[in-house]
Amino acid sequence: MAKKGEIIEVEIFDTADKNRCVGRLEDGITVFVEGPVAVGDTVRAKVTKIKKKFLQARLTEVVKFSDRRTEPRCKYFGICGGCKWQHFDYSEQLRVKRKQVLDALVHLGGFESPEVAECIPAKDLFGYRNKIDMDFTDQRYLTADEMDIPAEELDKPLDFALGFHAPGCFFKAIDIDHCDIATEEMNLAVETVRIFCRDRKLSIYSTFKPDGFLRNLVVRQGGATGELMVNLITSTHDAELMAELLAELKTAFGDKLTTFVNGICTRKNLVAFNEEEHVLCGEGFITDRLGKYSYQISPNSFFQTNTAQADVLYNEIIKQAAFQGSETVYDLFCGTGSIALFAAKYCGKILGIEWIESAVADAQKNAIEHGAENCTFRQMDLMHFGKIRDELEAFGLPDLVITDPPRAGMHPKAVKMLRELAPPIVIYVSCGPASLARDGQMLCEDGLYKLVSCQPVDMFPQTNHVESVARFQRCS
Ligand SMILES: C[S@@+](CC[C@H](N)C(=O)[O-])C[C@H]1O[C@@H](n2cnc3c(N)ncnc32)[C@H](O)[C@@H]1O
Repeated sequence: MAKKGEIIEVEIFDTADKNRCVGRLEDGITVFVEGPVAVGDTVRAKVTKIKKKFLQARLTEVVKFSDRRTEPRCKYFGICGGCKWQHFDYSEQLRVKRKQVLDALVHLGGFESPEVAECIPAKDLFGYRNKIDMDFTDQRYLTADEMDIPAEELDKPLDFALGFHAPGCFFKAIDIDHCDIATEEMNLAVETVRIFCRDRKLSIYSTFKPDGFLRNLVVRQGGATGELMVNLITSTHDAELMAELLAELKTAFGDKLTTFVNGICTRKNLVAFNEEEHVLCGEGFITDRLGKYSYQISPNSFFQTNTAQADVLYNEIIKQAAFQGSETVYDLFCGTGSIALFAAKYCGKILGIEWIESAVADAQKNAIEHGAENCTFRQMDLMHFGKIRDELEAFGLPDLVITDPPRAGMHPKAVKMLRELAPPIVIYVSCGPASLARDGQMLCEDGLYKLVSCQPVDMFPQTNHVESVARFQRCS
């Protein structure tokens, strides 16, 4: 048996959970390898954990490269937490995404031989995101090459970074010069803001000393419209400084800048959220389009981050819902009401529920704009069913529920609510296979529902994330 710290050589034969790959040593011991590894590689890895039936190890060197690999395009590959699967060729990404969903349903959800279709591919493999969300930090994450360079010789300061966190590094961020899954305009917006803030040596907020100024930068660009929003989130508003930054953005973009917002956030976490907004240019929102529908999107509102694939996803939802024309439908976790609007013409009436006030306001405006009179939106917290039950009953109990929770899934109280409402059909849209499996298992407890089908859709090429649309049917 290998010892902790020992370097072992192993051939990788499969992918496993937690973004690991798996191989087997000659003595039959299973090894889970962490790091950018692919099925078919032979690798050397350092043993980090020893358990009775398996070892855990960290990649040190690839001895033989698998033919399922491709050359990663991004210089931050391996350190940035974003695109973990850039080294898989695209067909391998799709295969592993489907497997991730299937494994979660079988091993975590306890479903026997679930019907999981092949993953629907994305059209654009890079430059597809319509939103990037970066943090400012005063501790820049150093790449391996930079570690050996004396601080005074580094070409970037150590105490400024605007970018993404390396995995497990909450207080350090990689200063990202270019993100390949964002558009060129979004990258230019980030660079313009970076240079402005770095040159002026503006202070940076940290949860240790919550008095700094710069917090987050969120850039959105409508995938179908090209409309551009820059939302700089700071702890206070400095009108003069923001006017100067607006001038820089105007120089870079001219009329192509749709709106510039300075969001103010005083919360003690690092999540980008505007508690207050100062709109310096434009109307404070952008518009994007899915199919023939246009959507108003405010800074705090959720909108699917890959516009082209959202169209594919929503058509899949409509297909799996197989509407008859007169149903009462709930769209839970509805964001800006984009699914409801898509589904409106296929059913009787829809109630969309969402807890972010601005998203509900966007949803209402979007429905009015499209004359979707059968759509109603309410701001409610889906964790507190007791409080909203009367309102749901007044609207009418659902024949079909579409639920699209955040990656962590539904709160157990919300799944309980769904079981009490017991609509004949539940369409569960999920960007977290593990939460789909867990919530699906709870939904199906005591044979109340069965899982009929599951369709993975690739919304996030190069990353280890996958979206799925699952259809559950009530059994009695
Ligand atoms: C994955 S997004 C889905 C949005 C929308 N269905 C779409 O396709 O654009 C999840 C949404 O759930 C909302 N949300 C999260 N927790 C909630 C809760 N407890 N009650 C109501 N809405 C919630 C978030 O604000 C977000 O808009």
